[in-house]
Amino acid sequence: MRHQIVLLQISMLLCLGVAEAAENLPAGDPVLGQRQFAQCTACHSITADGANKVGPNLHGIYGRKAGSKADFAYSDALKNAGFDWDSERLDQYIRKPSAFLPGNKMAFIGIAKDEVRANIIAYLKEGLK
Ligand code: HEC
Repeated sequence: MRHQIVLLQISMLLCLGVAEAAENLPAGDPVLGQRQFAQCTACHSITADGANKVGPNLHGIYGRKAGSKADFAYSDALKNAGFDWDSERLDQYIRKPSAFLPGNKMAFIGIAKDEVRANIIAYLKEGLK
């Protein structure tokens, strides 16, 4: 009996965790995101003809395969990531790059605020179609 209660509590906690993760992705405002992207521009250009800087050019990054720009020397971690960038992955990466992809070389501490990440992702997604 006791066991069953514990199991029930664990599964309830798991459900809460899933709900929370989905809620962590608010819609985001691409106009605000463009301004907040300022903290990325030291290392990233984003226009179609922008050069790679410390980091790769991010034009069309949304939906692009991770680590796939032929003219940029990625870390093995990013080169072998094996996924396309979507909202969820961008959110996790920008929140804490070192935790999401250990061994990647984006020397950026991350953005703790959910809304700011959502805005930047909206900008990456919609701002430059
Ligand atoms: C200090 C420099 C620096 C800053 C600041 C920085 N980045 Fe990066 N970023 C990099 C580097 C370097 C890489 C390549 C990492 C690797 O190869 O492991 C990278 C990679 C990326 C990638 C993956 C690109 C690809 O082609 O797969 C994304 C997405 C990204 N950065 C987004 C951002 C965003 C958004 C910000 C601002 C919130 C930001 N970065 C801030 C240096 C930086």
